[in-house]
Amino acid sequence: MIDYQSIIDTIVTHSKEATNRGIVASYIPELANVSSQKFGIYILDANKKSYSSGEALEGFSIQSISKVLTLAFSFGLVGDELWKRVDVEPSGDPFNHLSLLEQENGIPRNPFINAGAIVIADILVSRLKKPKEEFLSFIQELTNDSSIRYNEKVALSEKRTGYKNYAAASLLKSYGNLHNDVESVLDFYFYQCSLEMNCQQLTSAFYIFMNHGKCQRGKIYLTTNQVKRINALMLTCGFYDEAGEFAFEVGLPGKSGVGGGIVALLPNTYCVATWSPGLNAKGNSKLGMAALEELTTKTGHSIF
Ligand code: DON
Repeated sequence: MIDYQSIIDTIVTHSKEATNRGIVASYIPELANVSSQKFGIYILDANKKSYSSGEALEGFSIQSISKVLTLAFSFGLVGDELWKRVDVEPSGDPFNHLSLLEQENGIPRNPFINAGAIVIADILVSRLKKPKEEFLSFIQELTNDSSIRYNEKVALSEKRTGYKNYAAASLLKSYGNLHNDVESVLDFYFYQCSLEMNCQQLTSAFYIFMNHGKCQRGKIYLTTNQVKRINALMLTCGFYDEAGEFAFEVGLPGKSGVGGGIVALLPNTYCVATWSPGLNAKGNSKLGMAALEELTTKTGHSIF
């Protein structure tokens, strides 16, 4: 029997001792107000047993972690049609780079770089009558938690400063790979990124990726085959130009966000979420990555 509680308590102790905690994102001004001292970790296992340590119940901006949830929602709605508009290859570039998009005629490398997530947002804007409301309801239903909200201040803060995303959406539009207008797609995209969730809620949302598409209450959202594809994308593209390092250190599919969150999962076994706002040079949570490395090393379990 693995003693998850004692492992994550030790991880929290190590996080408190860390002197180099990375740098909190400030290119979205509202995110810069968060303390780099925060640290939380939460595990939800396949039998719905949970383990919590540190500030695991404090909400934060999930940012790019939302890209997995919009992908799941749109994949469930449109199926394999989706892959005509976005590829499934790692980019080897930072999340907001645009050069490959132009070289490859407006088809983003994968759904987790910003350009790819903007195409997924476009699909949802086309398909849904009230995209923001319906996506939020999807998350609330998935987690069985109606307290989850967008953080409007964060969304508007990014809207004011998100020039690179305006450039990405404009480039997509010029190649015919954005069907709605730039403003309405980005409005949805900035709101999805502003979702505020805590580590417990994130593990609850990601339970479907650990459990063949079935949520904790037994409702089926995705097929086993669709979950295979989403998990493969998390492993190969979830950490942008650090996806190789994450697979090497941690050995789990996962996704990061510039709010300092990371969610990862061991299929059929557990979901884990960490939150530590300081980022490394690649825009991924510095202590979050270290924590997950410690978890898979101490348990001796990874997908490898
Ligand atoms: O579009 C952006 O730049 C942000 N809303 C999300 C970026 C992000 O979280 C990258 N992940 N580490």
